[in-house]
Amino acid sequence: MSEPRQILVTSALPYANGSIHLGHMLEYIQTDMWVRFQKLRGNQCIYVCADDAHGSAIMLRAEKEGITPEQLIANVQAEHSSDFADFLVDFDNFHSTHSEENRELSSLIYSRLRDAGHIATRSVTQYFDPEKGMFLADRFIKGTCPKCAAEDQYGDNCEKCGATYAPTELKNPKSAISGATPVLRDSQHFFFKLPDFQAMLQQWTRSGTLQDAVANKLAEWLDSGLQEWDISRDAPYFGFEIPGEPGKYFYVWLDAPIGYMASFKNLCARRPELDFDAFWNEGSKAELYHFIGKDIVNFHALFWPAMLEGAGFRKPTAVNVHGYLTVNGAKMSKSRGTFIKARTYLDHLQPEYLRYYYAAKLGRGVDDLDLNLEDFVQKVNSDLVGKVVNIASRCAGFIHKGNEGVMVSGDAAPELTEAFLAAAPSIAEAYEGRDFGRAMREIMALADRANAWIADKAPWSLAKQEGKQDEVQAICAQGINLFRQLVIFLKPVLPLLAADAEAFLNVAPLTWNDHQSRLENHQLNPFKALMSRIEPAKVEAMVAASKEDLLAAEAKAPAGNGELTKDPLSAEIEFDTFAAVDLRVALIVKAEAVPGADKLLQLTLDIGDERRNVFSGIKSAYPDPSKLEGRLTMMVANLKPRKMRFGVSEGMVMAAGPGGEEIYLLSPDSGAKPGQRIK
Ligand code: 2FM
Ligand code: ZN
Repeated sequence: MSEPRQILVTSALPYANGSIHLGHMLEYIQTDMWVRFQKLRGNQCIYVCADDAHGSAIMLRAEKEGITPEQLIANVQAEHSSDFADFLVDFDNFHSTHSEENRELSSLIYSRLRDAGHIATRSVTQYFDPEKGMFLADRFIKGTCPKCAAEDQYGDNCEKCGATYAPTELKNPKSAISGATPVLRDSQHFFFKLPDFQAMLQQWTRSGTLQDAVANKLAEWLDSGLQEWDISRDAPYFGFEIPGEPGKYFYVWLDAPIGYMASFKNLCARRPELDFDAFWNEGSKAELYHFIGKDIVNFHALFWPAMLEGAGFRKPTAVNVHGYLTVNGAKMSKSRGTFIKARTYLDHLQPEYLRYYYAAKLGRGVDDLDLNLEDFVQKVNSDLVGKVVNIASRCAGFIHKGNEGVMVSGDAAPELTEAFLAAAPSIAEAYEGRDFGRAMREIMALADRANAWIADKAPWSLAKQEGKQDEVQAICAQGINLFRQLVIFLKPVLPLLAADAEAFLNVAPLTWNDHQSRLENHQLNPFKALMSRIEPAKVEAMVAASKEDLLAAEAKAPAGNGELTKDPLSAEIEFDTFAAVDLRVALIVKAEAVPGADKLLQLTLDIGDERRNVFSGIKSAYPDPSKLEGRLTMMVANLKPRKMRFGVSEGMVMAAGPGGEEIYLLSPDSGAKPGQRIK
């Protein structure tokens, strides 16, 4: 037997200012399955995580809610912990980056980097909110796009025309926090000299630590030369003050990955067999894996190994990167009800359904994974209920009825026993390589063989015949043995099903090696249904509830502070508010593209007694605008005129759809006349 491996595993630390959703769960479920597999194999595998508790977003949200940041992060930590626990994500420790361990380790790493000459300081000019007394991150500045003149755009990019720019280029900039006009101000910043680690990173990123696609992406940055990284923020900021630098704080992304170490350190205090240094010192024999999404690769595969190297710690063994989650083939959408919170899912469905579906679709790559809700129902019902659980439910009754629940000894299908044994190394290899999809396919192929064999033997027919009782018992004992092996193979994915199966099988918690043995002359416990089918109505109810979540969130957002909630759907409005909107039937007299604007059409609208000029961002759906001419639509006629780069827009036409080619201009029934009011 080889020595058990020592493995430390992390998932990305979720921000402590929002709920966990099914996109997050893709990562935590994936990591948890890998960790459970390692534990099942007898390795010492430790899984740590924490809430990512610092930064200005958390500070501002707490302020808005009228609580301290400490209260906010405590509330969120409780919510996150129970979401994870209920999805059967079994952390050894779930800590917080706002912890003493993290403060000490962040100071230590910073001081070592500084003493080794890897920190630079220089002055940076940035927008400052004079009312709020704070520097503004790009997303807290709003103004008019310098390219397309769209109003109310963020400080670094325009959602209308897609342009990117510096906040100083924004026209008429305003602080999204106070509404004040920001002023430019200088301040001393601290930089981590990433270019000092160029050679190390060139080598490290190509040493088997990353998937090829990720290493290739990083090569683009590495080849174009690394930049120094700004690691300080000015007060007020919720975070750790930089040692010896009053009023200067570590940027949240500096102490976030150190939070992995801090969570482990916190665990070491409770688990004396764990030695912090043995896992983290340079030359450590332990393995260290980070599971992350593809949006945060630069932090984990450039900044983090460089920080560790510069501070004399070991570097990760590998950074495992996954893609995003889509639902029904599209980005999760609040208005479609596919932005599904972990808790909303759990209110309607069992966690293991999703764990299995993710496992079945996860590969080693960085491709996005689609949760197709119809396929989800179909696959889980067919594989887990129809194939795996079916074996046990077909066989258990005969053993209880015919032999008082005792499995007879003997092997009724040696070729199947052999096939199941022979498949184990390949399934283990697939788990080890995070190719969960392959593991599930191989396991289900075994389940198919077991079911086909039982169907062929048809114990239900034999049971009705005289003198066939021994044969029935031999077949069913074999069926239960095969079921037991499938349960072992699926245990990392389905820990609850495994626990229930262990109770039915009347055995101690199964380990991976148990697949090599059989139950012979063994007493079973009564059989209870191990898993029920997913009812499509429950999925529909979950989607409906997700739409309600959105309305509730909108209703909770305090008035006048909508800058951080961008979804246009709003909560209930008073009738008077609605009645104040002048909606009219409009005839499109002329429709033409606007030279120099990617998305806009210029419409001339006839509303009976007058003509209106309206600019509308619907060009992507109507590439030949002349086709719109002569058609009726609806418009908001009393919208304040808006001055745009191309002219003044005097109202708004009404359209539905998510955007792109899917924009559908509304039309009244035939017979409506231009200018008629819509009531
Ligand atoms: O992107 C995020 O959600 C970050 N909170 C992840 C941090 S991971 C680690 F570095 F702490
Ligand atoms: Zn723009």
